Parts: sequence; structure tokens; C-alpha cells
Amino acid sequence: MPSVHVITTPAAMSAWSEAARARGERIAFVPTMGALHAGHVSLLAAARKQGDRVVLSIFVNPTQFGPQEDLARYPRDLDGDLAKAASVGTDVAFVPGVADMYPPGAQTFIDVREVAQGLCGERRPGHFTGVATVVAKLFGIVRPHVALFGEKDFQQLAVIRRMVADLNMPVEIEGRPTLRESDGLAMSSRNAYLSPAERGRAVAIFRGVSAACERFAAGERGAIALVESALSAMKDRVDRIDYVEIRDAESLRPVERLEKPAVILAAAFVGATRLIDNMRLG
Ligand code: PAJ
Repeated sequence: MPSVHVITTPAAMSAWSEAARARGERIAFVPTMGALHAGHVSLLAAARKQGDRVVLSIFVNPTQFGPQEDLARYPRDLDGDLAKAASVGTDVAFVPGVADMYPPGAQTFIDVREVAQGLCGERRPGHFTGVATVVAKLFGIVRPHVALFGEKDFQQLAVIRRMVADLNMPVEIEGRPTLRESDGLAMSSRNAYLSPAERGRAVAIFRGVSAACERFAAGERGAIALVESALSAMKDRVDRIDYVEIRDAESLRPVERLEKPAVILAAAFVGATRLIDNMRLG
């Protein structure tokens, strides 16, 4: 299995990309925070089909974590990540340090407005500013032709699509479906935090959004009733519900009656672990 070329500085990453572009190669990019699971690997495998070159980034971005969040204990496994990346033909892993990405004196942050408000934007103040800023920086360094993101982080994907359109960034954004465990739990690096008992309960978030989907399929079009069916499937199994909401799948604006494609989004704590999930309705 060919190994993945590891690049640690923005200057070396940009030089590599410039050379690839000069050869006429199409660069497909998958940004991550590492602790790769099959969901991440599915993005890399899709990238392999999209580009001549596949670049993965692994960077646990401090600016997207709140002061009470899990930055310090976020799971890290560089050797494991490189082996998984190699198994699907990744060419380069860009693994910068915090000081490479945020040298002292940085003053520019990207503030996406409406789509970044509400949902995780409300529960995690500053989170999407951190995400948008680091993704913009990564795009500037890697200069990909196409970048792939998971629908698991539905609001994040919407924020990035908005940013790319608003700032005329010359990159295509491809959203990819959520990979799940066999019981339906959405794969996440944070699932590693769950005790066996918590892991058993965590599937309730999937069951909740699925319950709303089933009720939608049976003809229900009222957002309140659909949210209610999700809440009742979740409430005794999770420890705290951050939100369960139905939004327009394009604009992420709240909807009352589902007449256009919509999405149900949920976030809840199981023990100390905050998990999210979503499913399209229509
Ligand atoms: P991270 O949580 O590591 O996720 C990296 C990418 O993998 C994201 O696009 C995410 O949506 C996708 N992903 C996560 N779980 C998935 C699953 N079960 N199925 C399919 N795709 C999945 O999201 C981030 O990192 C960061 O915010 C980042 C964009 C890298 C900016 O720091």
C-alpha cells in the first residue's frame, strides 16, 4: 500500500499544490480533525474518484471549540489516520500545528450570518466563525478544485456553501451522505467518548429523527407534530436535548409546514458527550 505523504507547513502544502496544478492535476480535498472513522474514509474514497490527487487535512481547530468544550481531550490518532487514508489512495495528509495555522497577530475571521445562526450556531457561540475561518484558510493553502464534506454536519455544509458563494471562492463543494453504525448511530469521532451503556442509548438520536421521517412518509406535514414524534423517541434515552428542529433544506430557515425539501436536525447530550444527527424530509 503506497504511503501518504505528510506535509506539516502551509508553505510546503501550497508549493505541492502549485506543482500539481501546474501539471494540470485536479485536487480533491477532505478537511478533517482526525480520529478518522469510516465516514471520513468514505469522503476520501469519493475524493479519489473526483480528483487526480487527494489531499486530506488533519487539524483539531481550536477556534471552533468553546471554552467549556472538548478541545483538550479531542481524540487523536495520527498513525491510525494515515493507515486509513493510505488504504483508499490518499496522496497527501496536511497536518499543520496550531502555530502554523494561527501565527500571533491574526485578526481576520469569517462571519457567515443567517445560516450560521440557530441550531449549533446558537448552542455553540463562535463555532461556525471558527469553522468558516479555518476552512477558508485551508482552501487558501491547499487550493483544491473540489472539497468534500459530510451531510452529518448539515449546518456546517450549508455555512461552507454560503461562504464559498459569497466570497467567490474557486472551489466546488460536494456534500456526501452520513455513514452510520449498524444500529443507525451516525459515525462520529466523539462516539469514542461513550461508555458502553451510553453507546446503547446514543442510538435514540437516530431513532428520533427516523421517527419523524416515518411520520413524514405517512403524510404528516406539520413541523410541530414531526418534531414531537422525534422528541418522544429521544426524551427518555438521552440526558439533555439541545434542539430538535425542522428547517428548509436549502436556506436552513425554520418551516412550519413542509412543502419543500426540509431536514430534521437534532443535537443531544448522552452523558457528557454532545452528538448531532439529521435526516432529509422530502
Ligand atoms: P470532522 O468532524 O473531523 O469531520 C470531517 C468531515 O467528515 C466533515 O465534512 C464531516 O461532515 C464528515 N463526517 C463526519 N462524520 C461523518 C459520517 N458519519 N458520515 C459521513 N461524513 C462524516 O467537520 C469537521 O471535522 C471540522 O469542522 C472541519 C470541517 C474539518 C473544520 O475544522
